[in-house]
Amino acid sequence: MSGRRVPVGIVGAGPAGLLLSHLLHLAGIASVVLESRSREEVEGTIRAGVLEQGTVDLLTQSGVGERLHREAFFHRGVYLRFGGATHHIDMESLTGGKRVTVYAQHEVIRDLVAARLAAGGDIRFGVSGVALEGIDTDRPALRFDEGGSARRIDCDFIAGCDGSHGVSRHSLPEGALQRYERVYPFGWFGILVEAPPSSDELIYASHDRGFALVSTRSPTLQRMYLQCDPHDDVANWPDDRIWSELEKRLETHDGWTPKQGPITQKVIVGMRSLVHEPMRHGRLFLAGDAAHVVPPTGAKGLNLAAADVRVLARALEAYYGAKDETRLVRYSGDCLRRVWKGQRFSWSLTTLLHRSQSDTPFDRRRQLAELDYITTSRAAMTSLAENYVGLPFE
Ligand code: APR
Ligand code: PHB
Repeated sequence: MSGRRVPVGIVGAGPAGLLLSHLLHLAGIASVVLESRSREEVEGTIRAGVLEQGTVDLLTQSGVGERLHREAFFHRGVYLRFGGATHHIDMESLTGGKRVTVYAQHEVIRDLVAARLAAGGDIRFGVSGVALEGIDTDRPALRFDEGGSARRIDCDFIAGCDGSHGVSRHSLPEGALQRYERVYPFGWFGILVEAPPSSDELIYASHDRGFALVSTRSPTLQRMYLQCDPHDDVANWPDDRIWSELEKRLETHDGWTPKQGPITQKVIVGMRSLVHEPMRHGRLFLAGDAAHVVPPTGAKGLNLAAADVRVLARALEAYYGAKDETRLVRYSGDCLRRVWKGQRFSWSLTTLLHRSQSDTPFDRRRQLAELDYITTSRAAMTSLAENYVGLPFE
């Protein structure tokens, strides 16, 4: 067994763990990142694709925004479609210049991995059996297996950035965390399509048959989603059924149809809202999906993860720089205020746009009235816009 000491041990090389490691490096604080998957898997997993303005600014200011600024799509707003009509929400003008940036999560990950490795950062891909020890003491440690050898790294702090199925959260004593959860009775059927963009901006559609979303990945690759039964099987969805359903849910009076092409990926994702409180226990700090999960509507997951690690990096910087622990003490409360606003928004956009089997005709009329309100009231539109492009950092 070999032992080392590193100020911050980070579990998980998702957006939270990688960005934290990068921000700490810029502040002169060393870290090690332990990741159970291979680099290829981490860089290849397709997830959501919309960045808040604050996330873009953070990536840009920390020197990892170069490819993003070259390759991302910068949209003024989004379209809401219902009742056969399309309504534009011009978020840029409603929020004083904040834009909707469409740049896939795995591209952010690739940029962060490249930056960390170029700076000599220590990321251990493909490790197994990660275990957290001594989080109640001031000498916590990470044990893990790397290439058949047992390893141990002593740390000052551990950041649990290992997502919703990670190990960190389970290292807390029984009863230390309060869990708040809502599971939705629907999921998303996501496809990747080799075709040109069908729209110049994202389309969120509410239809009697259920929700649909038209998003993009590149000039030649598009992302689209359909509300579905979360327990359905992709095998039940041949291509022609997908196109027929997308066309119905996205129908307009002016005859718009999505541009078709070969479907190269089909995936079903469940939807839930979940928060664990507090986000700190002793020397363990939870960040990102390890602490909270949002349904994908509105794409807040990565953005909340980035906001958490921004707070954590600053708190650790104050600790190592000025021996000031106040920001570390405030970490959980500071993050949770933003997290709950993100939860509220993701839940409200989800319930506004999806159909549920338990919905009554009253519920549908109420949804349509709310959509009508949002697309005609500047106040309501502004509220949607400021949440979508991201609430300001406090
Ligand atoms: N040991 C080491 N690594 C682990 C372990 C473990 N026991 N368990 C999970 N991991 C890794 C996962 O393989 C993954 O790469 O932790 C990483 C967690 O990354 P994410 O799940 O992406 O979570 P996070 O960084 O918080 O990012 C949140 O990503 O999951 C999406 O939709 C989510 O957009 C949100 C964002
Ligand atoms: C995506 O492109 O994957 C995406 C876009 C917008 C959302 C969710 C996901 O609200």
